[in-house]
Amino acid sequence: MKRPGIAVFDSGLGGLTVLRALRGQLPKEDFFYFADTRFLPYGDRPEVFLKERGVLIARALVARGAKALVIACNTATAAAAEEIRAAVDVPVVAMEPGVKPAAALSQSGRIGVMATTRTVSSPRFQRLLDNHASHVEVIAQACPGLAEAIETHGPESAEVATLLDCFVSPLAAAGVDVVALGCSHYPWVAAAIAQRLPPGVQLLDTGEAIARQLERILTAGHLLGGGSGQLQLATSGAPLTVKATVERLWGQQGSAHLPVEHWEP
Ligand code: DGL
Repeated sequence: MKRPGIAVFDSGLGGLTVLRALRGQLPKEDFFYFADTRFLPYGDRPEVFLKERGVLIARALVARGAKALVIACNTATAAAAEEIRAAVDVPVVAMEPGVKPAAALSQSGRIGVMATTRTVSSPRFQRLLDNHASHVEVIAQACPGLAEAIETHGPESAEVATLLDCFVSPLAAAGVDVVALGCSHYPWVAAAIAQRLPPGVQLLDTGEAIARQLERILTAGHLLGGGSGQLQLATSGAPLTVKATVERLWGQQGSAHLPVEHWEP
Protein backbone atom coordinates (compact mmCIF):
# COMPACT_ATOMS: atom_id res chain seq x y z
CA MET A 1 0.00 0.00 0.00
CA LYS A 2 1.37 3.37 -1.02
CA ARG A 3 1.87 5.92 1.75
CA PRO A 4 -0.88 8.55 1.56
CA GLY A 5 1.26 11.70 1.75
CA ILE A 6 -1.24 14.33 2.85
CA ALA A 7 -4.53 12.93 4.13
CA VAL A 8 -7.72 14.92 3.63
CA PHE A 9 -11.07 13.95 5.08
CA ASP A 10 -14.70 15.04 5.15
CA SER A 11 -18.05 13.44 5.93
CA GLY A 12 -18.39 12.88 2.20
CA LEU A 13 -17.39 14.54 -1.04
CA GLY A 14 -17.71 18.18 -0.02
CA GLY A 15 -14.00 18.15 0.76
CA LEU A 16 -13.28 17.55 -2.92
CA THR A 17 -13.84 21.30 -3.33
CA VAL A 18 -10.94 21.79 -0.90
CA LEU A 19 -8.85 19.03 -2.46
CA ARG A 20 -9.04 20.81 -5.81
CA ALA A 21 -7.45 23.90 -4.25
CA LEU A 22 -4.85 21.80 -2.37
CA ARG A 23 -3.75 19.99 -5.53
CA GLY A 24 -3.68 23.28 -7.43
CA GLN A 25 -1.35 24.79 -4.81
CA LEU A 26 0.79 21.67 -4.27
CA PRO A 27 0.67 19.71 -7.53
CA LYS A 28 3.64 17.49 -6.68
CA GLU A 29 2.30 16.23 -3.37
CA ASP A 30 0.47 12.91 -2.99
CA PHE A 31 -3.01 13.08 -1.46
CA PHE A 32 -5.23 10.48 0.16
CA TYR A 33 -8.87 11.58 0.33
CA PHE A 34 -11.18 9.86 2.77
CA ALA A 35 -14.95 10.37 2.54
CA ASP A 36 -16.67 9.14 5.70
CA THR A 37 -19.82 8.59 3.69
CA ARG A 38 -21.19 5.93 6.01
CA PHE A 39 -21.76 8.69 8.56
CA LEU A 40 -22.86 11.53 6.23
CA PRO A 41 -24.24 13.97 7.21
CA TYR A 42 -22.02 15.07 10.07
CA GLY A 43 -24.08 18.23 10.40
CA ASP A 44 -26.89 16.56 12.33
CA ARG A 45 -24.74 14.36 14.57
CA PRO A 46 -23.97 14.94 18.24
CA GLU A 47 -20.73 16.67 19.11
CA VAL A 48 -19.50 13.72 21.15
CA PHE A 49 -19.89 11.40 18.16
CA LEU A 50 -17.93 13.79 15.93
CA LYS A 51 -15.11 14.05 18.47
CA GLU A 52 -14.75 10.27 18.75
CA ARG A 53 -15.07 9.71 15.02
CA GLY A 54 -12.66 12.55 14.18
CA VAL A 55 -9.98 11.24 16.53
CA LEU A 56 -10.41 7.68 15.26
CA ILE A 57 -10.08 8.79 11.62
CA ALA A 58 -7.10 11.06 12.33
CA ARG A 59 -5.19 8.32 14.19
CA ALA A 60 -5.92 5.79 11.45
CA LEU A 61 -4.74 8.20 8.74
CA VAL A 62 -1.50 8.84 10.60
CA ALA A 63 -1.06 5.08 11.17
CA ARG A 64 -1.41 4.74 7.40
CA GLY A 65 1.55 7.07 7.00
CA ALA A 66 0.03 10.52 6.49
CA LYS A 67 2.57 13.31 7.03
CA ALA A 68 -0.14 15.96 7.50
CA LEU A 69 -3.92 16.06 7.86
CA VAL A 70 -6.47 18.42 6.38
CA ILE A 71 -9.92 18.44 7.99
CA ALA A 72 -11.84 19.45 4.86
CA CYS A 73 -15.02 19.80 6.87
CA ASN A 74 -16.25 22.80 8.85
CA THR A 75 -18.48 20.60 10.99
CA ALA A 76 -15.70 18.23 12.07
CA THR A 77 -13.50 21.25 12.76
CA ALA A 78 -16.19 22.93 14.88
CA ALA A 79 -16.76 19.79 16.93
CA ALA A 80 -13.37 18.13 17.10
CA ALA A 81 -10.39 20.16 15.84
CA GLU A 82 -8.80 20.49 19.31
CA GLU A 83 -9.21 16.77 20.07
CA ILE A 84 -7.83 15.78 16.67
CA ARG A 85 -4.81 18.05 17.08
CA ALA A 86 -4.13 16.60 20.53
CA ALA A 87 -4.44 13.03 19.25
CA VAL A 88 -1.84 13.05 16.47
CA ASP A 89 1.73 14.21 16.09
CA VAL A 90 1.52 15.51 12.51
CA PRO A 91 0.40 19.00 11.44
CA VAL A 92 -3.38 19.39 11.19
CA VAL A 93 -4.99 22.06 8.99
CA ALA A 94 -8.63 22.66 9.85
CA MET A 95 -11.30 24.74 8.12
CA GLU A 96 -13.90 27.14 9.41
CA PRO A 97 -16.35 29.54 7.75
CA GLY A 98 -14.68 32.63 6.24
CA VAL A 99 -16.34 35.02 8.70
CA LYS A 100 -13.26 37.20 9.08
CA PRO A 101 -12.76 37.92 5.34
CA ALA A 102 -16.53 38.27 4.85
CA ALA A 103 -16.76 40.88 7.61
CA ALA A 104 -13.75 42.71 6.19
CA LEU A 105 -15.24 42.77 2.67
CA SER A 106 -18.75 43.86 3.60
CA GLN A 107 -19.83 47.38 2.70
CA SER A 108 -23.37 47.02 3.99
CA GLY A 109 -22.29 45.77 7.42
CA ARG A 110 -24.48 42.71 6.97
CA ILE A 111 -23.04 39.30 6.10
CA GLY A 112 -24.54 35.84 5.71
CA VAL A 113 -23.03 32.52 6.69
CA MET A 114 -24.40 29.22 5.40
CA ALA A 115 -23.28 26.15 7.35
CA THR A 116 -24.54 22.96 8.95
CA THR A 117 -26.66 23.01 12.09
CA ARG A 118 -23.77 21.59 14.11
CA THR A 119 -21.34 24.29 12.91
CA VAL A 120 -23.74 27.17 13.51
CA SER A 121 -24.59 25.97 17.01
CA SER A 122 -20.97 25.32 18.05
CA PRO A 123 -19.06 27.38 20.65
CA ARG A 124 -16.20 27.60 18.14
CA PHE A 125 -18.45 29.40 15.64
CA GLN A 126 -19.65 31.76 18.37
CA ARG A 127 -16.00 32.55 19.20
CA LEU A 128 -15.33 33.24 15.52
CA LEU A 129 -18.19 35.75 15.48
CA ASP A 130 -17.07 37.38 18.74
CA ASN A 131 -13.47 37.70 17.56
CA HIS A 132 -13.99 38.79 13.96
CA ALA A 133 -17.53 39.97 13.32
CA SER A 134 -18.64 41.99 16.31
CA HIS A 135 -18.80 45.12 14.10
CA VAL A 136 -21.19 43.60 11.54
CA GLU A 137 -24.59 41.96 11.62
CA VAL A 138 -24.33 38.25 10.88
CA ILE A 139 -27.21 36.16 9.57
CA ALA A 140 -26.12 32.60 10.32
CA GLN A 141 -28.24 30.25 8.25
CA ALA A 142 -28.21 26.58 9.23
CA CYS A 143 -28.88 24.40 6.19
CA PRO A 144 -30.00 20.97 7.43
CA GLY A 145 -30.16 18.37 4.67
CA LEU A 146 -28.32 20.44 2.06
CA ALA A 147 -24.95 18.60 2.06
CA GLU A 148 -26.71 15.26 1.95
CA ALA A 149 -29.02 16.36 -0.89
CA ILE A 150 -26.06 17.66 -2.93
CA GLU A 151 -24.35 14.32 -2.57
CA THR A 152 -27.36 12.04 -2.93
CA HIS A 153 -29.36 13.83 -5.62
CA GLY A 154 -26.73 16.07 -7.26
CA PRO A 155 -26.12 19.83 -7.26
CA GLU A 156 -28.70 20.44 -9.98
CA SER A 157 -31.48 18.35 -8.47
CA ALA A 158 -34.98 19.54 -7.61
CA GLU A 159 -34.32 18.52 -3.97
CA VAL A 160 -31.32 20.88 -3.76
CA ALA A 161 -33.28 23.68 -5.49
CA THR A 162 -36.09 23.41 -2.93
CA LEU A 163 -33.67 23.56 0.00
CA LEU A 164 -31.79 26.51 -1.50
CA ASP A 165 -35.05 28.43 -2.03
CA CYS A 166 -35.70 28.02 1.66
CA PHE A 167 -32.18 28.72 3.00
CA VAL A 168 -31.07 31.57 0.72
CA SER A 169 -34.21 33.73 0.87
CA PRO A 170 -33.62 34.94 4.47
CA LEU A 171 -30.13 36.11 3.40
CA ALA A 172 -31.50 37.93 0.36
CA ALA A 173 -34.24 39.52 2.47
CA ALA A 174 -31.70 40.71 5.05
CA GLY A 175 -29.68 42.59 2.43
CA VAL A 176 -26.34 40.84 3.00
CA ASP A 177 -23.60 41.74 0.53
CA VAL A 178 -21.22 38.85 1.34
CA VAL A 179 -22.06 35.22 2.06
CA ALA A 180 -19.49 32.86 3.59
CA LEU A 181 -19.96 29.28 2.41
CA GLY A 182 -19.32 27.56 5.73
CA CYS A 183 -19.61 23.95 4.57
CA SER A 184 -17.24 22.35 2.09
CA HIS A 185 -20.20 20.90 0.17
CA TYR A 186 -21.67 24.31 -0.69
CA PRO A 187 -19.18 25.46 -3.36
CA TRP A 188 -20.77 22.72 -5.51
CA VAL A 189 -23.93 24.86 -5.55
CA ALA A 190 -22.33 28.33 -5.51
CA ALA A 191 -23.91 29.31 -8.85
CA ALA A 192 -27.37 28.26 -7.66
CA ILE A 193 -26.90 30.24 -4.43
CA ALA A 194 -25.74 33.31 -6.38
CA GLN A 195 -28.84 33.09 -8.62
CA ARG A 196 -31.04 33.46 -5.54
CA LEU A 197 -29.23 36.58 -4.30
CA PRO A 198 -29.19 40.09 -5.74
CA PRO A 199 -26.44 40.73 -8.31
CA GLY A 200 -23.12 41.71 -6.77
CA VAL A 201 -23.39 39.68 -3.56
CA GLN A 202 -20.02 37.98 -3.06
CA LEU A 203 -19.70 34.34 -2.08
CA LEU A 204 -16.61 33.27 -0.15
CA ASP A 205 -15.24 29.79 0.21
CA THR A 206 -12.06 29.00 2.08
CA GLY A 207 -10.49 26.27 -0.10
CA GLU A 208 -7.67 28.43 -1.39
CA ALA A 209 -6.88 29.89 2.02
CA ILE A 210 -6.61 26.33 3.37
CA ALA A 211 -4.26 25.41 0.53
CA ARG A 212 -1.96 28.37 1.30
CA GLN A 213 -2.05 27.50 4.99
CA LEU A 214 -1.12 23.88 4.24
CA GLU A 215 1.82 25.00 2.13
CA ARG A 216 3.04 27.35 4.90
CA ILE A 217 2.81 24.59 7.50
CA LEU A 218 4.56 21.99 5.35
CA THR A 219 7.30 24.46 4.48
CA ALA A 220 7.84 25.43 8.12
CA GLY A 221 8.01 21.74 9.14
CA HIS A 222 10.34 20.81 6.23
CA LEU A 223 7.67 18.38 5.08
CA LEU A 224 7.25 19.45 1.47
CA GLY A 225 8.14 16.98 -1.28
CA GLY A 226 8.47 13.23 -1.58
CA GLY A 227 5.35 12.85 -3.70
CA SER A 228 4.54 12.65 -7.39
CA GLY A 229 1.07 14.19 -7.66
CA GLN A 230 -0.78 10.94 -6.92
CA LEU A 231 -4.33 10.84 -5.61
CA GLN A 232 -6.07 7.99 -3.83
CA LEU A 233 -9.76 8.04 -2.92
CA ALA A 234 -11.38 6.00 -0.16
CA THR A 235 -14.73 5.79 1.58
CA SER A 236 -16.28 4.10 4.59
CA GLY A 237 -19.46 3.78 2.52
CA ALA A 238 -20.17 2.10 -0.80
CA PRO A 239 -17.21 2.59 -3.20
CA LEU A 240 -19.27 2.27 -6.38
CA THR A 241 -21.79 4.86 -5.23
CA VAL A 242 -19.00 7.21 -4.20
CA LYS A 243 -17.22 6.68 -7.50
CA ALA A 244 -20.41 7.57 -9.39
CA THR A 245 -20.82 10.71 -7.26
CA VAL A 246 -17.18 11.73 -7.84
CA GLU A 247 -17.72 11.33 -11.58
CA ARG A 248 -20.88 13.42 -11.45
CA LEU A 249 -19.24 16.18 -9.37
CA TRP A 250 -15.88 16.23 -11.13
CA GLY A 251 -17.29 15.74 -14.61
CA GLN A 252 -14.71 15.03 -17.26
CA GLN A 253 -11.60 15.76 -15.18
CA GLY A 254 -9.05 12.92 -15.27
CA SER A 255 -9.27 12.29 -11.53
CA ALA A 256 -13.00 11.60 -11.80
CA HIS A 257 -12.21 8.13 -13.12
CA LEU A 258 -9.97 7.00 -10.27
CA PRO A 259 -10.89 3.86 -8.35
CA VAL A 260 -12.40 4.31 -4.90
CA GLU A 261 -11.34 1.86 -2.20
CA HIS A 262 -13.35 0.83 0.82
CA TRP A 263 -11.51 1.82 3.99
CA GLU A 264 -12.65 1.53 7.56
CA PRO A 265 -10.52 3.62 9.95
N1 DGL B 1 -18.90 19.14 4.41
C1 DGL B 1 -19.12 19.28 5.79
C2 DGL B 1 -18.79 20.67 6.29
O1 DGL B 1 -17.93 21.33 5.72
C3 DGL B 1 -20.32 18.69 6.46
C4 DGL B 1 -21.47 18.17 5.70
C5 DGL B 1 -22.26 17.21 6.54
O2 DGL B 1 -21.84 16.06 6.58
O3 DGL B 1 -23.23 17.62 7.18
O4 DGL B 1 -19.36 21.14 7.24
